[in-house]
Amino acid sequence: MLRMTKVSAAAGVWLLAGTVAWARQTATPPTDLQVEPRVTALLGQMTLAEKVGQLTQVGAFPGMDPAGTIRKAGAGSVLWLNDPKQFNALQRVAVEETRLKIPVLFALDVVHGYRTIFPVPLAMAASWDPAGYEKAQAMAAREARAAGLHWTFAPMLDIARDARWGRIVEGAGEDPYLGAAMAAAQVRGFQGPYPGSPGHLIACAKHFAAYGAADGGRDYDPAYVPEGLLRNVYLPPFQAAAKAGVGTFMSAYMDLNDVPATANRFLLRDVLRGEWGFKGFVVSDAFGVANLIAQGFAADGKEAARRAVEAGLDMDMASNTFGQNLVAEVESGRLPVARIDEAVRPILAAKVRMGLFENPFVDESKVAAVLEAPAHREEARRAARRSMVLLRNQGQALPLRKDVGSIAVIGPVADSKADTEGPWIAFGQPPAAVTILEGIRAKVGAGAKVTHASGPQIRRDVPSMFEEFVPALKQPPQTPEAAETAFQQAVATARDAEVVVMVLGETAYMSGEGASRSSLDLPGRQQELLEAVVALGKKVVLVLVAGRPLGITWAAEHVPAILEAWQPGSEGGHAVADVLFGDVNPGGKLPVTFPKKAGHAPLYYARTLTHQPEGSPRYRPRYWDGSEAPLYPFGHGLSYTTFTYSNLEVAEPKVAVGKTATVTVDVKNSGAVAGDEVVQLYVHQRTGSDSRPRRELEGFERVSLAPGETKTVAFKLGPDELRYWSTAQGRSVQEPAGFDVWVGGDSTASTHAELEVTR
Ligand code: BGC
Repeated sequence: MLRMTKVSAAAGVWLLAGTVAWARQTATPPTDLQVEPRVTALLGQMTLAEKVGQLTQVGAFPGMDPAGTIRKAGAGSVLWLNDPKQFNALQRVAVEETRLKIPVLFALDVVHGYRTIFPVPLAMAASWDPAGYEKAQAMAAREARAAGLHWTFAPMLDIARDARWGRIVEGAGEDPYLGAAMAAAQVRGFQGPYPGSPGHLIACAKHFAAYGAADGGRDYDPAYVPEGLLRNVYLPPFQAAAKAGVGTFMSAYMDLNDVPATANRFLLRDVLRGEWGFKGFVVSDAFGVANLIAQGFAADGKEAARRAVEAGLDMDMASNTFGQNLVAEVESGRLPVARIDEAVRPILAAKVRMGLFENPFVDESKVAAVLEAPAHREEARRAARRSMVLLRNQGQALPLRKDVGSIAVIGPVADSKADTEGPWIAFGQPPAAVTILEGIRAKVGAGAKVTHASGPQIRRDVPSMFEEFVPALKQPPQTPEAAETAFQQAVATARDAEVVVMVLGETAYMSGEGASRSSLDLPGRQQELLEAVVALGKKVVLVLVAGRPLGITWAAEHVPAILEAWQPGSEGGHAVADVLFGDVNPGGKLPVTFPKKAGHAPLYYARTLTHQPEGSPRYRPRYWDGSEAPLYPFGHGLSYTTFTYSNLEVAEPKVAVGKTATVTVDVKNSGAVAGDEVVQLYVHQRTGSDSRPRRELEGFERVSLAPGETKTVAFKLGPDELRYWSTAQGRSVQEPAGFDVWVGGDSTASTHAELEVTR
């Protein structure tokens, strides 16, 4: 039962609700029945200006005035601040200086860790380990919540099939099935048992939707995505997040089929609320509402604010377009107040569920202990190990011996903390990663002499917008003479060593927002350096540090071992060394296709068949200047052991529509060391209302096997896996049809069975 207490005459009847400090007392979520009356009571006290205040998220950036904004009429949220002291100071303004004492939500991009940085999201997806991802995001949430944050702008759920698009690093890659599994896992990790549960954050599914389909991989450019592709490929991770109970969504920046996502009624109303029953609130991307003017969609702030709200947007991130215009829009009758109330309700409900009315402040004395938890560093190392993908290992060049004599570690990202962590580390946290050079040194100890040369600097031609905020990124450019000296030093250092570990790739902000590329080549003089070092005739292994697939076609022919380390986070250097020296057997698999060159993008495995399908006698490569076959297919990843597949069986080779078949396969570790294999299930519907992709991932499981051990892995194929949205029929269908079923270690798996779905 709720207990109502009179707090102040000004606030009227408000609920102190001593019996409902759920968040701290119990792990059971507050029910709507407990939350909604509080929201209704509060809403009843609010002026229109106070309501609009709740729809406003104010930036703590130079030129913006969070304290002033809060004082005026309250604010829904504050972003881009990361300091417990300042959180408390601002919260004091909200709960002591405003009429209704409504606390604010503090929000930030806690994308792959807060103080402890986990591998970048693309790397986490390469682990094919949703449970591990859940654990990592739970730890990130624990740190961030202890530091006073309430809400993270993550997970990023954009499917990306074009490696030129820099934001490919922030998501789970090209596949909707893998993407959906990783989406749900992250929501569970961030939010815990329910949105608002102690030690957790409210998550935000972003960027809704199809941002990854930007034309030409150019960040922010329009996306043209027909409904079938949208529903079959781009929406499933978002739907999975909604199903997992994600508290908020963020609309994307770009135009989707000529309607900005910020004011896209089809997305925000019809699909999100109408079809999926989403009950939380939707925030714009930063300045997204004001951007509607720049995008040529709205004439002025009034129209931008009104059309965004009408379409289903609830909170304006940072542009203050709502703050400046919505009161007048309602007072003039152009916008019903009922729609404002509808937008305010879930924002207030989130604050109630977070327990903010009872406990608005962060305990500054407790922050450090949580951030320094050794268990978090250990988990970051485990996650990084599991995310690494062994792309090539000719003649068992890896693992390396620890007593090799001398090792040269060469390359511009070998000893850079910022580049080991990657983009989107929480604002104001100095990079504190173990670099790959440090990890190798720690691993070999006195067993080998380790030398290092970085080679020529690598730089973006156009600086990143993040350079202003991350001082470590600002480096004065190297003169051509200095670059040449660095080049020669690197070659000389390699010449003096017995083994060379080349650590090449991209700097942290060569991927991420505003980081599209027209080439996938190793930037700067890295390719030239690699060729010069290989020409020395030494044993060379290549470690890639990057947030996207790189065009490493030459390396794939000339360097015997290639390890994709991505941007592996705080413990990245140790994890890379664990794998290079064989203390850990790599088991990650690619969540994206690696094209041979940028001109092949977008390239993904789940294409439909053509009239000249690959493998048919009539097949000709699509380009006359080199086959479009991927350098490494989706799902690829080697191990220091080998796996064999046998006994693929479909228990019910014929099932009726709506029924489920069970697929089993035996996987054996046929090598000499323990290892992990990601067992992947692909299906192809042979005929139907629409052409269906030649293969689609519909199941996976990462298994650990001792040498000689066999495990039977089982998958389900039922309506959830076999249904699709048909363009021809304009609806979701599951059809009677013949299906090919493959199981194996990548998307070219050849172990085959059949399934017939009958009427
Ligand atoms: C990005 C979002 C991010 C937001 C807030 C925007 O520029 O597109 O992904 O959450 O800023 O930092």
